[in-house]
Amino acid sequence: MATAELYTEFASAQARGESACYLAWAQGVAADRELLGLLAQLPEPKRQPNLLFAAARYTGIAPAPFADFRAALLASWPQVRSVMMMRRTQTNEAARCAPLLPLLAALPQPLALLEVGASAGLCLYPDRFGYRYGNLPPLAPASGPGAAVISCAIEGPVPVPAALPEVVWRAGIDLNPLDVSNPADVRWLETLIWPEQDDRRRRLAAAMALARADPPYLVAGDLNDKIGDVASQAPDDATLVIFHTSVLGYLDAAGRSAFTTTVRDLPGYWISNEIPSAVAFGSLPPSPDPTRLLSVLAQDGRPVAYAGLHGQDLHWFA
Ligand SMILES: C[S@@+](CC[C@H](N)C(=O)[O-])C[C@H]1O[C@@H](n2cnc3c(N)ncnc32)[C@H](O)[C@@H]1O
Repeated sequence: MATAELYTEFASAQARGESACYLAWAQGVAADRELLGLLAQLPEPKRQPNLLFAAARYTGIAPAPFADFRAALLASWPQVRSVMMMRRTQTNEAARCAPLLPLLAALPQPLALLEVGASAGLCLYPDRFGYRYGNLPPLAPASGPGAAVISCAIEGPVPVPAALPEVVWRAGIDLNPLDVSNPADVRWLETLIWPEQDDRRRRLAAAMALARADPPYLVAGDLNDKIGDVASQAPDDATLVIFHTSVLGYLDAAGRSAFTTTVRDLPGYWISNEIPSAVAFGSLPPSPDPTRLLSVLAQDGRPVAYAGLHGQDLHWFA
């Protein structure tokens, strides 16, 4: 996709209604030849709106009208460029546990969780958060309200569980696992949250505190290279669940195809929550909101629901 189109689509399908700042910045970049020219000098995967905007804010550019953003970006392009080259979009959103939970809770317990593309591993604690699905009574761990309470709007016959799953093992694989005890990684995770989203910032802080107190087992490497070995380390007396959210879009077609072949051959269950273009589904029901980019939740390749990209809503169709 051409870079201008990437920014136009990000503005309309992702930022609209979520971040007025990023909406204006993305629309501005899409129409700005000089900025598009700078982005064209970067490798294609480095041209993403989320990466540019997070890198700009990481170097100190504050949320502001587009004209001010543009001036600041041009003035500090070498620094922004260097952050874009060094970092990747590793947004770690614990609220993505909300779409996963109904599937996880319905599997034979206890669970051994293996997340590929885990970032800092904050989605590996679905049993440690509280949940509020629509207007239903809250769901919480037996020990208390949970590290954070995740709210998720629901539509359709969502099989909201009566109890949280029991997790006895958690492991993650990432090209670059982020460490919630490392101040630079923490600041990058914070900067990846869009400017107006204070709820998400609070949840990130709570999830990072949880991970600091009980660090996840994270393995560095490509998911296709590591998955077999890490899966073999899962305990035999628990149900292995391999899952991923917002990851396969970063792989090329060969990488995605290799992964789906491998995962289908491994023992256990496979849960995916990815944008429709990242997983080859035969057909999908119409989106509940064609103006937004939604992800598709699926178990073992069978799609069951659409979900907001940050786990904020769940539209069940299975
Ligand atoms: C957008 S983040 C999502 C993180 C987490 N799954 C979540 O939903 O909060 C995508 C993650 O996938 C990782 N990733 C991308 N390609 C990968 C690959 N080939 N192997 C392992 N990890 C990969 C990135 O490093 C990044 O941390």
